[in-house]
This record gives sequence, C-alpha cells and structure tokens, in this order.
Amino acid sequence: MYSKKVIEHFQNPKNMGEIEDADAVGEVGNPVCGDVMKIYIKVKDDKITHIGWKTMGCAAAIATSSMISELAEGITLDEAMKITKKDVSDALEGLPPIKQHCSNLAADGLHKAVENYRKKQET
Ligand code: FES
Repeated sequence: MYSKKVIEHFQNPKNMGEIEDADAVGEVGNPVCGDVMKIYIKVKDDKITHIGWKTMGCAAAIATSSMISELAEGITLDEAMKITKKDVSDALEGLPPIKQHCSNLAADGLHKAVENYRKKQET
C-alpha cells in the first residue's frame, strides 16, 4: 500500500492553499479519474520563492502536491522544469503501481505554472 512518506504528507500536507498574489498558476486535470490540481508559484530572480497548491483528488494526489511543493521551493525555473514524476514518486518512497499516474499531475502542474510564468514575461 502507501509508503510512510505518502501517509505523512497526506496527513500533514506542506504548503497547502492558494497564493492570492501568485505570479503564475498551473492547472492540470486527470481525465481518467477527474482529479484536478492547481499549483501556484511566486518567482523572484528566476527562482521559485514560494509555492502553494489546491488539489481535489486522491490521497496520492494530495501527497504528491505536498512533496512537489517541498522539492520546488527555492530552486530555479530551469530546475523546476526538470523535476519528473519519477522524482516525485521516488521522494515519496514510491507509489503503488495503480497510483503512479497520480504523480503526473504534480510534475505537469508545476511545469505548466512555470510555462505560464514565462509566457507572461514575454508579453
Ligand atoms: Fe486521480 Fe490519483 S486517482 S490523481
């Protein structure tokens, strides 16, 4: 079943909640289960200074949201784009096979937020 880390993050999620004055938001959904995740980022000098999230989803989706917020805080936008779903599930000491897809949301949501931030900078 779930690893200790997943349960820990599910029961005590980090950085949960919307950031009202976020510099960018990434929203992703999983068409299979219908779960939705929003990732909010604050950026300064090309670094993610703060990250928040709102997730309507399963325990694994909540735990991956929490974990990605820890992995991405303080890193550069380029580094954030390199975080993979495997990084997220490895950091959580693995996810049950049928829950692997849940880790896609967190990585995709973060990448979307960075892409949206970069688009905003261009305009
Ligand atoms: Fe939907 Fe986990 S079951 S993200």
